Order: sequence, then C-alpha cells, then structure tokens
Amino acid sequence: MKASDDFIRRLPKAELHIHIEGSFEPELMFEIARRNGVRIPFDSVEAVRAAYEFEDLQSFLDIYYQGMGVLLAERDFYDLTMAYLRRARDDGVVHTEIFFDPQGHTGRGVAFETVLNGIWKALRDGERQLGITSRLIMCFLRHLDEDDALRTLDQAIAHRDRIAGVGLDSSEVGHPPGKFERAFARAREAGFVAVAHAGEEGPPAYVEEALDLLHVARIDHGNRALESMALVKRLEAERIPLTVCPLSNLKLCVVPDLREHPLKQMLEAGLVATINSDDPAYFGGYVLDNFTAVRDALDLSADDIVTLARNSITASWADEIQKNRWLAEIDAMISASI
Ligand code: ADE
Ligand code: ZN
Repeated sequence: MKASDDFIRRLPKAELHIHIEGSFEPELMFEIARRNGVRIPFDSVEAVRAAYEFEDLQSFLDIYYQGMGVLLAERDFYDLTMAYLRRARDDGVVHTEIFFDPQGHTGRGVAFETVLNGIWKALRDGERQLGITSRLIMCFLRHLDEDDALRTLDQAIAHRDRIAGVGLDSSEVGHPPGKFERAFARAREAGFVAVAHAGEEGPPAYVEEALDLLHVARIDHGNRALESMALVKRLEAERIPLTVCPLSNLKLCVVPDLREHPLKQMLEAGLVATINSDDPAYFGGYVLDNFTAVRDALDLSADDIVTLARNSITASWADEIQKNRWLAEIDAMISASI
C-alpha cells in the first residue's frame, strides 16, 4: 500500500538536518536586504531562483554564503527562523534540530550573540505558538582551519545551555573529519553532542573518521557509506542514524536521478535512515516534498514511510517522554488506517 500525501503530512516527524541559512527564501532575502540597505546582485525573486542550478556541493555553497550576507541584525535571524518553523509545522514536523553556521556571520562582522539570540527567540516562540520543539546544533565550517573552529567553540561554550550539539559542514572533499579532532574532543568534553556531514561527496573513509575520531552520534548524509559493506554492517550494528536529504542530493548531483537514490538500500540494510530537507529554499522542497519525492521515485511502501517517520523520532534528541508520545501517535494512526 502507498502512503498518501495527507497521511505523510499527519505523521509526527522530526527534521534532523536543516541549515537555517539554507531556508532563506528569496522573497524574505529581498525584504531583509531592503531594510538593511544591502544590494542583491539580482533584479527579482524569479532571477534568484533561476540562479539555483548547481553542479556540485561547492557551486551551491558559493551562492549559499553570498545569500546569508544580507543577514545583519538579530531581527533578521528571528524572521528567518520563524519563517522556517511555520513552513515545517505545515508539513507536520513536530520537532526540529537546526544547524547554524556562526562563522558565516562572525567572519563578516556580525556578533555570535546577534545570530544566536535571533534564532533562539524564534525557537522559543515557535514552541509556544506553533508547538514545535527544537534543538540547536552549531556547525564548524570545514574549509576553515581548526583554530577558527576552536575560537568559535569558545564562544559557544558561554551559551552551552542553548546549544545542544556541534556539527561539521561546508566543502567536504579535502577537509576530512580528522582535521577537527581537537575541536570535537573539546566540544564533547564541554557536553555538546557531535554530528558531522560525511559521505555526501567524500569517501567512506570520511564516515569512518567521523565515527572513530569525532565520535559522532549521527552521520549527516552518509550516502557513500554504502560503498563499504563493512561500514554498512557497522552503522547497522551501532544503530548510527543517517540524516538523508534526497532533494539536496538530486540538486547537488550526488545522484543523477532520484530513482538511483540509495535510501531504499539503506532501509533494506536496516540502517536508521531519516528524511530531511538540508537547504529547502535552494533545493526546491521542505520535508514533505522530500518524503513524497522518494515515495514516488523509489516506490516506497506505507511501511517504509512509517519506518522513516519513526526513525526521525528515535534518532532525535527530544526528551524521551515526548518521543514516546509521538511514537504512540504514529501507532494510533496505523491502527486507524487498517
Ligand atoms: N552547508 C549547507 N548545506 C550543506 C550541505 N548539504 N553539505 C555541506 N555543507 C552544507
Ligand atoms: Zn547539510
């Protein structure tokens, strides 16, 4: 049996791989650029969208860093985050774990606290007004050096109560996880949970490094882990979740066609795969679009869809009582549909 769009929307889901700067829709970009007196090198929203044709991760990152350049004030980060939360709520996301890239802002003179305060206030309002719970994950930009990451970590430690984890993103190939071993050791010592992008474009060895050297609790993407049978067995045995991003993989040419996406193999191998939007404003879809796209391209069954929703809840860092409530809601939806 196939899951309908409405069934998928109503399933309680957690989103575990979303870069808040990647949810910056062109309409909001123009609005904030206008109020900040910043020039955008495009004439219209349509022209911006037309420029979103990527051939690999780097060609996207160049535009992504340019786009976030209009964010200057706390209110900008608040508006960005609130817009994402509303959109996620409409897709039936009940819990979200949001990445942010402080170095993309501090590097242009925006204070760490300006970024964090704006995002944080929106997360609190999102919980009160929309009922979405959340965690915040600070990413280190891996194209920068480890000393820069360590200085950023020092800033985050002062706000340990508001940041749950640290991650690793940006240009993967040539910047293996091992480059950040000291920064991650210090972050874990300070109480942050670790995650890392690995195996998006990089080889299976980068996924192994993330596990062995950074001691991550989840792998972001992980597509290329499937090239190593031993690694697949390990991910399965250790129940390491993968935060998979299908439409991102298509737009960044990680897969040539969604019908060739490895998600189904991941599920068949018993891996804890989850579905996420990554940078939805750039890749043409939020969580629900990602679910329906893989359902159609990979001919996923309703059972597969339910497994993906369940995985997202169990792999999240929400509190256990809340997780059990959502899992029970999923069970109740299945009973009602039989
Ligand atoms: N930053 C934002 N999106 C990213 C992705 N898909 N991979 C690496 N870094 C990113
Ligand atoms: Zn990502």
